[in-house]
Amino acid sequence: MSFHPSRDYALELDKQDKLASYRDQFVISDPNLIYLDGNSLGRLPKVAVERARQIVEEEWGKDLISAWNKGWWEAPARVGEKIAQLIGAGPGQVVVSDTTSVNLYKLTMAALAQNPGKKRIVTDTLNFPSDLYVLQGCVHTLGNHHEIVRIGSRDNDLTPDLTALESAINKDTALVTLSHVTFKSGYLYNMKRITDMAHRNGALMLWDLSHSVGVIPIALDECGADLAIGCTYKYLNGGPGSPAFLYVNKSLQEEVASPIWGWWGQNRPFAFGLDYEPAQGVNRFLAGTQPMLSLLTMETALDLVLQAGLTAVRTKSVLMTEYASFLTDSLLAPFGFSLGSPRDPAKRGSHISLRHPDGYRINRALIDEMNVIPDFREPDNIRLGFAPLYTSFTEIWEGFDRICRVMEEKKYEKYPSKRLTVT
Ligand SMILES: Cc1ncc(COP(=O)(O)O)c(C=O)c1O
Repeated sequence: MSFHPSRDYALELDKQDKLASYRDQFVISDPNLIYLDGNSLGRLPKVAVERARQIVEEEWGKDLISAWNKGWWEAPARVGEKIAQLIGAGPGQVVVSDTTSVNLYKLTMAALAQNPGKKRIVTDTLNFPSDLYVLQGCVHTLGNHHEIVRIGSRDNDLTPDLTALESAINKDTALVTLSHVTFKSGYLYNMKRITDMAHRNGALMLWDLSHSVGVIPIALDECGADLAIGCTYKYLNGGPGSPAFLYVNKSLQEEVASPIWGWWGQNRPFAFGLDYEPAQGVNRFLAGTQPMLSLLTMETALDLVLQAGLTAVRTKSVLMTEYASFLTDSLLAPFGFSLGSPRDPAKRGSHISLRHPDGYRINRALIDEMNVIPDFREPDNIRLGFAPLYTSFTEIWEGFDRICRVMEEKKYEKYPSKRLTVT
């Protein structure tokens, strides 16, 4: 695909964009803001505003406790079925619950209990740190009898070393767990290939879909994945802290146990029996009361992705990351930037990283002075996330143009290298 670095060319790409009309379905309160952080927190869908009002005023305000009988109690399973459509899961395998970290804990503990004789967990250093912490916590809780093997990268953290991954997965491996799309470089694992690798050695495979759900067609059932988790506040636009989801393959459901035996995961919660009996199927991985305001708002937000369809979403996403890679090479390379993401779109999610030794200070200048919001990830990555439902090509072009201005005018030089907390 050949591109041109002019603004007119970006306008032309927008004219041809079949998803362009979706942008109007989001709240864009500042049209001059270049928001390239939908891979961290998706924009607010207009339908979610009205739905949130309705949940608060009508359901909570008027129905009070009886709202649990009008669709609240079933919401984790009902919304799970909607998410299932986005991740290639047949019915009865997905529920919405808790956070991604908590779900990883629940599924890791369940997986390790399945394979008590095996003591190895394989992951990689490109994984989201919280995932690594949760794994370490599980090992600690289980008495430090397991070892965590972390595969590295041989190209400065762009891609994982697949040869090392293959040799690390051995007959002693209980669990392989990876982020489907890695959070810094955006590397996209081949789900089928890696799942097969785990299964050849009798290990279970657990995918973290946080950076791929809603932006990449996923086929968990077809790939034979055992377990998966993911969040809903990135490309699903569920809102800050909206609850996460988990997937347990049907074939495993009656064998595995949650490590948290709460009443939502009990077979007959309203019998209030004194002893725990697991619920049928995936519902046993629920623990306690779910955040209804957030869960139900997220349910509405999901409809936009379902309507647009993941094939169209992925086509636009690939075009956007290709275009941004081109702009990196043509406009930013002269300022010392390099692309910190795979060049092959088949191995890339919907964000790219720009690497620069002054990345942190440049990111600060973009946010404070240029009305551009990317985010920064250590040590030198400025991440740009592209959300096909509302990011336009002109917005991408404008973002790159403003980065050029920061560099030409050396705006970043006045910022200290000391880090702020979030972006
Ligand atoms: C890939 C990945 N996994 C896990 C998490 C942690 O999610 P939570 O804070 O919902 O536990 C995140 C958060 O951004 C993430 O990006």
